[in-house]
Amino acid sequence: METILSIKNLSVQYIVGKKIVPALKNVSVSLNRNDALGIVGESGSGKSTLGLSILNILPKEAKITDGEVCFRDRNIFQLNKEEIQTIRGGKISIIFQDPLSSLNPVIKISEQIRETLKVHHQDFSDKKIKELFEMVQLANFYGIKDSYPHQLSGGMRQRIMIAQALASNPEILIADEPTTALDVTIQKEILELLKKLIKEFNLTVIFITHNFGIVYDICSRIAVMYNGEIIEEGKTSEILKNPKHPYTRSLLSVIPRSKQKIKRFDVIENWTME
Ligand SMILES: Nc1ncnc2c1ncn2[C@@H]1O[C@H](COP(=O)(O)OP(=O)(O)OP(=O)(O)O)[C@@H](O)[C@H]1O
Ligand SMILES: [Mg+2]
Repeated sequence: METILSIKNLSVQYIVGKKIVPALKNVSVSLNRNDALGIVGESGSGKSTLGLSILNILPKEAKITDGEVCFRDRNIFQLNKEEIQTIRGGKISIIFQDPLSSLNPVIKISEQIRETLKVHHQDFSDKKIKELFEMVQLANFYGIKDSYPHQLSGGMRQRIMIAQALASNPEILIADEPTTALDVTIQKEILELLKKLIKEFNLTVIFITHNFGIVYDICSRIAVMYNGEIIEEGKTSEILKNPKHPYTRSLLSVIPRSKQKIKRFDVIENWTME
C-alpha cells in the first residue's frame, strides 16, 4: 500500500494575547491511497486545525510547534511558495462548511472556477467549465454561469465549491463539515454527490464531521479526536463494533441503538454528537 499522506507528531498552538491554547498535541496519522479517513470528535477537539495544518493554511495566530506533514516524501512545511502552490488546491483540495467564506463575493462563479483551472495549468475553456458544472449536477450552465455567489442557494454554492476543489484533479480531498450548514434534504444530495465523485476521481479523503452516519457511509477508517489528540484510530467497522476508548464509547452511546445497524445516511439527522 502506498502511503500518500503522513502526519507525524504534529503539535499546534493558538496564541491569543498572552494565552496559549494547545489545539493539537503530538498528532500522528497516515493515509494510504484511496483511504477515506473520518475525523470525529466534539467541538473544539482540533479537527479543523488538523485539516488546515495539512495545507499549511492556519491563521496567523496559530503556531506549529512540532512535527511534520508529508505529502508522499515531501514535508509540506519545508516547501517553497511555488511548490506549496502546486499542492495547495492542486494535489490536495479542501472544502469547508461555509462556501460563502471561501468563494470570492465579487467574482462570477464561472470565472472563479476558470481562475483555479488557470492556476493549476488545466484547460480553462467554457467547455471545460461547463463540464465541471455538469459534474456537480448543476445543469443550467448558461443560466447561472454569470451569477455571483450570493445569488445562489447554499446547496448550489456548495456544488460550486466542490467543482472548484476538483477542477485541478487533486489526489486528496479534505472536507471539513461540508454539509453541516445545509438543509437535511440538500445535505443528503451533496453527500451522495461527494460519494460518487470520491469514487470517480479515485480520491483519498479526509472527512471531518460530527456525524457518525456520514463516517459509516463514506469512511473506511476513523480517527477520534479529543482535546487535541487522536485517542483512537482504526477501521470504521471495527471501531463502531468495538470501540476501545471510553470517550469513543460515550460518543457512540448517543446514537440510538435502533439506528446503529442502519448503514445509510438516511438517518443522519439523529446521529450528530454535539
Ligand atoms: N483562530 C483561533 N484562535 C484561537 N483559538 C482557536 C482558533 N481556532 C481554533 N482555536 C481553538 O483551538 C481548539 C481547536 O479548535 P478547532 O477549530 O480545530 O476544533 P474543531 O474540532 O474543528 O471544532 P468544531 O467541531 O467546533 O469545528 C479549540 O480550543 C479552539 O477554541
Ligand atoms: Mg471545525
